[in-house]
Amino acid sequence: MARSQFNKLASYLRPHLRQSALGIVALLMVNALGVYIPLLIRDGIDQLQQSLNFQRILFYVGAIAGLASLMWIVRMVSRILLFGVGRQVEFDLKQQIFNHLLTMEPAYFAVNTVGDLISRATSDVDNIRRLLGFAVLSLANTLFAYVLTLPVMLSINVRLTLVAIAIYPIMFFMVHLFSNRLRSEQLAVQEETASLSDLIQEDMSGMSLIKIYAQEENERLAFRDLNQQLLTANLKLARTRTTLFPLLGGLASISLLVVLALGAGAIASGEISIGDFIALLLYVERLVFPTALLGFTITAYQRGEVSIDRIEYILSTEPNIQSAANALALPQPDIKGWLSASHLTYTYPGAKTPALDDVSFKIRPGETVAVVGPIGSGKSTLANALPRLLDIEPAQVFVDGYDITQIRLKDLRSAIAYVPQDSFLFSTTIKNNIRYGDPKAEQPTVEVAAQQAQIHPEILNFPQHYQTIVGNGHYPIRWAAAAHGIGKGITGGCAHPDSG
Ligand SMILES: Nc1ncnc2c1ncn2[C@@H]1O[C@H](COP(=O)(O)OP(=O)(O)OP(=O)(O)O)[C@@H](O)[C@H]1O
Ligand SMILES: [Mg+2]
Repeated sequence: MARSQFNKLASYLRPHLRQSALGIVALLMVNALGVYIPLLIRDGIDQLQQSLNFQRILFYVGAIAGLASLMWIVRMVSRILLFGVGRQVEFDLKQQIFNHLLTMEPAYFAVNTVGDLISRATSDVDNIRRLLGFAVLSLANTLFAYVLTLPVMLSINVRLTLVAIAIYPIMFFMVHLFSNRLRSEQLAVQEETASLSDLIQEDMSGMSLIKIYAQEENERLAFRDLNQQLLTANLKLARTRTTLFPLLGGLASISLLVVLALGAGAIASGEISIGDFIALLLYVERLVFPTALLGFTITAYQRGEVSIDRIEYILSTEPNIQSAANALALPQPDIKGWLSASHLTYTYPGAKTPALDDVSFKIRPGETVAVVGPIGSGKSTLANALPRLLDIEPAQVFVDGYDITQIRLKDLRSAIAYVPQDSFLFSTTIKNNIRYGDPKAEQPTVEVAAQQAQIHPEILNFPQHYQTIVGNGHYPIRWAAAAHGIGKGITGGCAHPDSG
């Protein structure tokens, strides 16, 4: 793992250090017990060979059963703690991503598709959760298992131990060989998944158009193509995994066979006792599982690595439109409503010609102005420039004489009532949609706004009137007119160039 990704992981873990540390300590205890129990078994067996002292044997049985139960409990605790950390980090990351997305300008969402963002915020976050839960747990487990078990094994019999673990370097080498392939195949799966969710998202939103133009068949084919690509990517990954993991498991079991074969001879020659032999077998068995599991751990680890990059890509993108460092607070009641533009020019990123070219105007408070023009002449662009939904240059648009790029973004926007060309309703009640700009507005205020937009009688036609839940999507402009009129200061300065 690159250093930067490791630092990122550490920063995700930082708020949960205590829980992580407790989990690791519990894991250490589990492994210590795991090393001690076979020693007890050995002593028990060796004791059995010398004399049949039932009291001693009962002692061993009791001690082993007690310690094994304790180990079981501590293992459970360690899992709850460490998997819990993974869940916590998942929660934190989702929160961070959503908060960050809220700061981004609309243009960002034209470049970064919803499907891609959703896939990063869900499956990539999930991969990081697995990396921190499962991968950390099993890596730590493997590490402890080796560090604690190996010295004890060596103290029992050096030759048998070395033979038993001789196979492990081959396993690590194999995992290493496969790791780049696994990584790129994993990335492909993640990208195909994102494209597929994009298509679903787009088709569900554009369903009416698909039907009007009778394009169901084409969309079906487009979906099948993408779905097929995802299947191919998934199968490729599965093929690599099904080659690697059983190989690892098989190799790991060979060491068990070797101990069985050589151990018998060692007992016969008196090199080790039967108790030693059993203890060695138990230890090898203990190492086999975490070693074979390494394959899965490595995958979780690689997926997590890719996912850290994909999530950091979102989190590290700075919004282009922000409040200036020492932005001007513009208290709403004081706003007069002077609105002017001076040589306003705006070119969309990547476009050759400007959408707004040297536009200048002055609008007095209370004045009603309509901006009319042919399709694509820049009316919406002008409307979007005023609340700084577009990244316009300083000193081109002024509210009450203040350069809007110097005003606190929140103050500027809450001073403007805006009815977008494509209106949108949130999935909540009609009432909540109307008072979206001022969630504390009471029923009478909501009704006044609805009456002004001439939508009140229609709302009364709905079964639950203002409490009717409406879905998201596109609705007649009159709805939005009511919805966006509440809680705003200047509406007189500029008649929304876009409300037609
Ligand atoms: N997101 C965008 N990226 C690049 N170019 C854009 C973008 N939005 C609009 N344009 C271009 O900017 C110009 C002005 O578009 P705008 O949407 O402001 O026109 P309009 O006057 O509102 O048109 P309409 O009457 O269709 O609403 C057009 O040439 C359009 O193609
Ligand atoms: Mg327009």
